[in-house]
Amino acid sequence: MSADLSTTYLGLKLKNPLVIAASPMTQKLDSLITLEEKGAAAAVFPSLFEEQIEHDSLELTKLHEFGTDSFAEALSYFPEEDDYHVGPESYLDAISKAKKAVKIPIIASLNGTSKGGWVRYAKMMQDAGADALELNIYFIATDLTMTGRDVEARYVDLVAAVKQSVSIPLAVKVGPYFSSMGNMAKRLVDAGANGLVLFNRFLQPDFDLETLEPKPKLVLSTPFEMLLPLRWIAILRGQLKVSLALTSGLHDAAGLIKALLAGADVGMVVSTVYEEGSSQIAKILSGLREWMEEKEYESVEQLKGSMSQQNCADPAAFERGNYMKALTSFTGKFI
Ligand SMILES: Cc1cc2nc3c(=O)[nH]c(=O)nc-3n(C[C@H](O)[C@H](O)[C@H](O)COP(=O)(O)O)c2cc1C
Repeated sequence: MSADLSTTYLGLKLKNPLVIAASPMTQKLDSLITLEEKGAAAAVFPSLFEEQIEHDSLELTKLHEFGTDSFAEALSYFPEEDDYHVGPESYLDAISKAKKAVKIPIIASLNGTSKGGWVRYAKMMQDAGADALELNIYFIATDLTMTGRDVEARYVDLVAAVKQSVSIPLAVKVGPYFSSMGNMAKRLVDAGANGLVLFNRFLQPDFDLETLEPKPKLVLSTPFEMLLPLRWIAILRGQLKVSLALTSGLHDAAGLIKALLAGADVGMVVSTVYEEGSSQIAKILSGLREWMEEKEYESVEQLKGSMSQQNCADPAAFERGNYMKALTSFTGKFI
């Protein structure tokens, strides 16, 4: 009998634990259909950004009068509507179309940092047919008077505001840069998150040496990046009753197996699909199936969390003990 790959994420019953993370490929109907055919169990739409929504309700000319306003600056990074998914109305329309074209759950994505009128789009995404919502909070605190406590309150307040406006499940995608990641995770859950998507990649601007301007830089991930979310999912699994998704650095079947062992309900992929094509989805799933059969696991449910910190024979491996071991066992050559 072949292994049962089904899992539950955000209350959604999925045929397997491989989900396509937020990216433009899920919003294009033909690529979404291919991703489903290759075996993806659910798809997260690319984000609709707070700035895009606010932009829609302001006159562009007025906006540019603000000149150096950081909001206008953020806006200048968006491609034209024709090139990408910009435009809240076309985004909602794309959700409805996707729901008709595929059977897999569609998770809409909102991306912002502050409570405001734009949050009403959460409800509109629900009304357009989204099965769940992912809220990506990407906040860079450049104001030096802002404390960690202020930043955290901002996250928590935003989650509570979005949660209030929808009845579909809510996942929250955040980065790892909190002094107490575990406490922050708990507070996001207390504020209403049904799931946590760990971790957002904070892309750093590069410098253009010709124009002498900072320029946005998107580099695809490497498998090494998976170790940070892997550790935190293992730590959180036994302590929080919440759905967990691993994103960043998952590139192959081994990555998905590790994510599940740590305690993730699903693993999310983007970079590897861009690099290897959609056939990578089927490859990862068959690798998972083969490994489970070889190790005599009957179901994904059975292996989920079996290497979480709580279930691990050596819990210190997730703490300082691991750091000391790594340093003392290093045998690099000095040339
Ligand atoms: C081209 C591209 C577009 C992305 N767009 C979004 C987005 O709109 N919203 C979001 O939350 N994450 C976005 N991401 C981040 C991915 O969802 C994912 O979290 C990240 O790429 C790490 O996963 P990976 O290692 O499988 O690439 C994007 C990533 C890429 C490469």
